[in-house]
Amino acid sequence: MSLQDKTVLIGITGGIAAYKICELIRKFQKAGVNTKIVCTPNALNFVTKLTLQNLSKNQVYVEEFDVKDWKPEHISLADEADVMLIAPATANTISKIANGIADNLLTSIACAFSKKMIIAPAMNCNMWNNQSVAENISKLKSRGVEFLEPDTGFLACGYTGKGRLCSIDKIYNTVLEFLEYSQKLAGKKVVVTSGGTIEEIDPVRYISNYSSGKMGFAIAKTAYNMGAEVVLITTKNFGAPFKIVNVKSAIQMQNALDDEFETSDIIIMAAAVADYRVKNYSAQKLKKTSDEELVLELVKNPDILQELCNKNQNKEKIIVGFCAESENLLENAKEKIIKKGCDYLIANDISRKDIGFSSEDNEVTILDKNGGMKHLDKNSKSIISRQILEYIIHE
Ligand code: CTP
Repeated sequence: MSLQDKTVLIGITGGIAAYKICELIRKFQKAGVNTKIVCTPNALNFVTKLTLQNLSKNQVYVEEFDVKDWKPEHISLADEADVMLIAPATANTISKIANGIADNLLTSIACAFSKKMIIAPAMNCNMWNNQSVAENISKLKSRGVEFLEPDTGFLACGYTGKGRLCSIDKIYNTVLEFLEYSQKLAGKKVVVTSGGTIEEIDPVRYISNYSSGKMGFAIAKTAYNMGAEVVLITTKNFGAPFKIVNVKSAIQMQNALDDEFETSDIIIMAAAVADYRVKNYSAQKLKKTSDEELVLELVKNPDILQELCNKNQNKEKIIVGFCAESENLLENAKEKIIKKGCDYLIANDISRKDIGFSSEDNEVTILDKNGGMKHLDKNSKSIISRQILEYIIHE
């Protein structure tokens, strides 16, 4: 992997461990990784701008509105970086980022940063154990931020406990591992669908399902972080740095997929597609009648996944389906992967309240077309996404 064109944006906050980052910058320099440094004003009480500038061979950014270009610094620095590392991260900066506070250049960049963020905290052990800080860390972890836990030992403030910045080698290796990871899908186009389709009855009513679209979104985001060109075709509203195509019905979803099919390498159908749509859409709102019953006639929607698999006869593309079941999960999934003809099927138990629809977590089993199976233990949807993608590209 070429590291020459990779940029690590290092955010340094006001803690004594700030001096250790000088060594880290040197290591990145030796590996050919470009580093851009942004400091909180307090960080400069511990390390000088000149030192950081010499080591990184780049300008060091501290003040907001120190604008040298038409593009605000907090946006251009966020755009240029492949990964943002904040080390050492104080309790104050972590808590601000967790709550969307953007009151200095570093926290403004963090607010505008949609790619991978790694945080290495360092603080007094009582601050580390503080409940608010712990809650803010959990909040960020649930959004995909990676934390490098502090070590336990003698702290500069005189206490002994957990709070020392973890080793520079650990930080370096984690960032390098991520940069490698961020290349895994380079050159590939991944198309993902998400959300429940919306089958309209009239201008005010529709048939849909409980799918939140979060699993598909997590997969799309992970594929993007792995370097893929990503298209997310979804019925939900998401903001993302990759292409999003908004659709409602199964037919619209199929049309959008047809547009992307030829150029795609991997297609992942995480959407909950309605099996039926209303036969006669009413352009006017249906009025209540004196009848006690109303019969809605439905017609079958195309099985999008099955049709895509039929089009993929020469097996140039990897096609992945999802399988939502409320009973007999694996038996149904085994039948479904054969019937649909996809390469992988992700079996999802929707009867469990703690996983699946709307939940932040999931627990799934990956089935492959040759009869292989891999169970993924309950985890955040972003970690499950990574495990799914790594499985299908490495298996
Ligand atoms: N799917 C599709 N088109 C449909 C229905 C489903 O492409 N009309 C896709 C889904 O996106 C998913 C997979 O097929 O990837 C399985 O969906 P699921 O709802 O579990 O299965 P169905 O085929 O709808 O079968 P059933 O509802 O009988 O379980």
